[in-house]
Amino acid sequence: MSSAEAWERFAAGSRPRRSVNARGEKTWLNWTQYPDHGPAEEILGPLAGRRVLELGSGGGDNLAHLAALGALGTGVDIAPSRKAAAEGRWGHLPGLDFRTAEAVDFLDGTAETFDVVLSVFGAVWFTDPGRLLPAVRAHLAPGGVLAFSHAPPASRKPPPGNSGIRHDHTPAEWRAILGGHGFREVSVTVLAPPAGETVGTLLARAVAG
Ligand SMILES: C[S@@+](CC[C@H](N)C(=O)[O-])C[C@H]1O[C@@H](n2cnc3c(N)ncnc32)[C@H](O)[C@@H]1O
Repeated sequence: MSSAEAWERFAAGSRPRRSVNARGEKTWLNWTQYPDHGPAEEILGPLAGRRVLELGSGGGDNLAHLAALGALGTGVDIAPSRKAAAEGRWGHLPGLDFRTAEAVDFLDGTAETFDVVLSVFGAVWFTDPGRLLPAVRAHLAPGGVLAFSHAPPASRKPPPGNSGIRHDHTPAEWRAILGGHGFREVSVTVLAPPAGETVGTLLARAVAG
């Protein structure tokens, strides 16, 4: 089974995000696997008018929030059904463009540059950083921000059909990997889980030199 087929199978089992969060908001950014938990878009810096790329954008919920704040968002996902799902829910918002592509293939095939690249339990978790990070750097404007989240190593089972393709690393490993690829101001932390949960969320942020 190809990666696209495996992710299509995963997509078939995913449920749409609820329509309103605990604060009554219709769009929001959630870095963690828990509702109404953790930081939001503030770690990305200014967003209005910025070109934002999400790698592994799924149903587009996080990118839609950034577009609602004035960003110009491109969402890339390897599973073909995700583009239609994201457009079906968020197509009414201006400034959004969803594509079907593998993350590195997309980056290698575009001349576009971005001010922000993010990935929420997305393609950064499932792609060899030795391939992905040079491609991200090549398309991040100087001073641009890369931020991503995933479960801490060995804390979650891979999604069905995707066994063995995760590239989760410890904070120390990510610091070395990101620094080794020329990123600066690298910050990698594990956010504490909400009460009653045991698994935190690894959140990384780095700036392109
Ligand atoms: C666990 S889901 C998270 C989706 C979304 N970011 C969210 O938070 O709801 C991972 C997503 O990444 C996509 N994905 C995985 N590997 C990818 C790759 N190499 N290139 C592009 N998309 C990828 C999958 O199709 C899936 O939609």
